[in-house]
Order: sequence, then C-alpha cells, then structure tokens
Amino acid sequence: MSKLETREFEELLRKLDREHRLDAGEWKCLLEAEGKETRSQAAEMAKKRSAEQFGNRIYIRGLVEISSYCKNNCLYCGIRRDNGQASRYRLTEEEILSCAGEGYRLGFRTFVLQGGEDGYYTDERLCGVLEELKRRFPDCAVTLSLGERVRESYERLFAAGADRYLLRHETADKTHYGQLHPPEMSWNNRMRCLEDLKEIGYQVGCGFMVGSPGQTAECLVKDMMFLQEFRPHMVGIGPFVPHHDTPFAKEPGGTVNQTLYLLSLIRILLPQVLLPATTALGTIDPMGREKGILAGANVLMPNLSPADVRGKYELYDNKLCTGDEAAESLRILRERIGQIGYDLTVDRGDSPMAE
Ligand code: 5AD
Repeated sequence: MSKLETREFEELLRKLDREHRLDAGEWKCLLEAEGKETRSQAAEMAKKRSAEQFGNRIYIRGLVEISSYCKNNCLYCGIRRDNGQASRYRLTEEEILSCAGEGYRLGFRTFVLQGGEDGYYTDERLCGVLEELKRRFPDCAVTLSLGERVRESYERLFAAGADRYLLRHETADKTHYGQLHPPEMSWNNRMRCLEDLKEIGYQVGCGFMVGSPGQTAECLVKDMMFLQEFRPHMVGIGPFVPHHDTPFAKEPGGTVNQTLYLLSLIRILLPQVLLPATTALGTIDPMGREKGILAGANVLMPNLSPADVRGKYELYDNKLCTGDEAAESLRILRERIGQIGYDLTVDRGDSPMAE
C-alpha cells in the first residue's frame, strides 16, 4: 500500500472504532485493504476492544447436534436433502437431555441445540425438551439453531424457555442468496425470521460464510452494513469449506486470512458482540481457533454430541471432530487457550447488549 492508502486505511479503522458505522464506499475501501499489515492492525484494535469487554475470558457453549436430517437443499451444505451419501441420525429427547447433563457436569452453563430442518422436531417435542432442560438445569441458557420456522413456532419455543437463536443470514445480497440456495428458499423469509426472533425477545445470532461461491466485495459490504443495522447479539462467521457430495464440491474454499480480517472488523463494529471462533476455521487451520481469538473472537463451541454420531453431522469435508470424551476435549481446549493467554469461562455469557 502507498503511504496515502495506509493513511486512508488507518482513518477508516479509527472511524469504525469511534462511530460504529461506515457507508458502503467506506466499507468497500476497508474490505479491499486486506493484507498482512492491515490484518494485524485490525486484529490489534479488535483484541483491545474484546479485552475491554470480556477481559481474557473465552465463553464456551456446549454444542449438541440433534439431527442431521434436513428438508432443505442448500447448495453448499453436506447434509442437504439430495445428498444420498450422508448418513443420517437424530437424537431422541432423552439423548439430548443426557448430552446436556454430561455438559453440565463438565461446567457448561449454555447449550446450543443445532440441527437440520427436521420435521420430527415439532414444536411439541422441542417445547418438551426445553421445559425439561430448564427444569433440570435452571441456571443454564439454551440456544436453538434449527433453521427457519414460522413466527408462532419461535414464540412457543421462547415461551418454553429458549433464550437465544442462531440463524445465519448466509448473505445480505439477495442475488447471491439465490446462487447459494435452491429456488424454493427465500432471502425475504430468512430476513423475516431474523426480525421475528429479535422482536420476540431472543438474543439473536446471524452470520455468513467467508468465501462462499459467488461472494463479491459488494456482497461483503452488504453483510457488514446488515450487521451494522441489525445489531445482532452474536455473529457466526467461518470460511466456506467445500463438501465432496454437494454441487459446490469443486469450488475453492474461503481463506483463514480473510476470515480473521472480517472477525476483527466485526469486533470493532460491534464491541460487545459474541463472536465465535468457529469449527470451520479450526478445520482449515489447526491453529484456526486460537488465531480467531487473537483476531477478536470470544466464544468457542465444543461439541457435546455423542461420539458415535459426531462424524455424521458433516456440513463440510474434514469437519473438525475428535473421538475424545467431552471431558478430555475440554481439558485439551483449556490448555490450548491457556497457551495464548486466555481462560475458558463456564458462565452463561449473556451478551452485554442484552441488558
Ligand atoms: N462450509 C462452511 N460452512 C457451512 N455451513 C453449511 N455448509 C457449510 C460449508 N460447506 C454453515 C452455514 C450454516 C451453518 C450451520 O453452517 O452457514 O448456517
């Protein structure tokens, strides 16, 4: 970068830090400035902002992948309906409760129930699980990540005890959304879901893949402007990783560096946001999650799913998954995070934005 460009970059970063808002042209400039030097400047600032909000604490969420059945056919996803090669499973209500029980004994105070859009999990069944989770573990927060549902369903699940909902918007660009999804899926409905969730009172997480097929600088500008308007409590981003049994098998994956740069910009934009260093990032780089934290992330989501089904929730190739007992994985994770100067914390970790 020339001196002028360096100065312009630094000014934009400071403006983002001060005003938490940029216009489309400014976002474009900032996004296009990605390089070694700018990445490290953004990470330094982001790390400072997360230290102010969270100290050296990293929140952990126990992830329970409740079903790999999905009625949707997203072009990027390994558990899409048309993937006849995927081996499917679904946990029973009792199995979900027992995973949570195991997590609770290990110190987890937040559970994330994630799954494909599986018709088995009706409101009645989910409400039953939620009520029982809240009865057994009243001090825990429960997050759902079960895709698009009608507003009334979100309302019932909230009334039954769900605290948070994760639904990645996938892309804020409607045309790009059409390139990633089959025609029967709609960007408008996705956005409607996110608005409903927020209005109902959930702490809401959105997010997108970095480097998904067809993603342009303009798409990312829209993603950042969407985050700036919507002000989610959580943002999940990770690199796109091709899956061999999907239409995108031969597409290039997203990069570690671009993901790290975006994590830093998101931290500066929304200093209080809960920002996971995702499994996808840990999958394409063995140090990905540590690098994510050093770029401004403050959440990790270790897998509490039963070891025998873990390999089946295969959204993308080589998805990070160990056969270790949950206790052993947690010990290793704590050790690794300690190495970079951070501590795992087991509390509920509500977003400061929720207060
Ligand atoms: N690579 C990376 N992330 C993926 N997801 C689905 N498929 C892939 C893939 N191939 C992400 C989507 C979805 C979340 C559950 O996982 O963003 O919302």
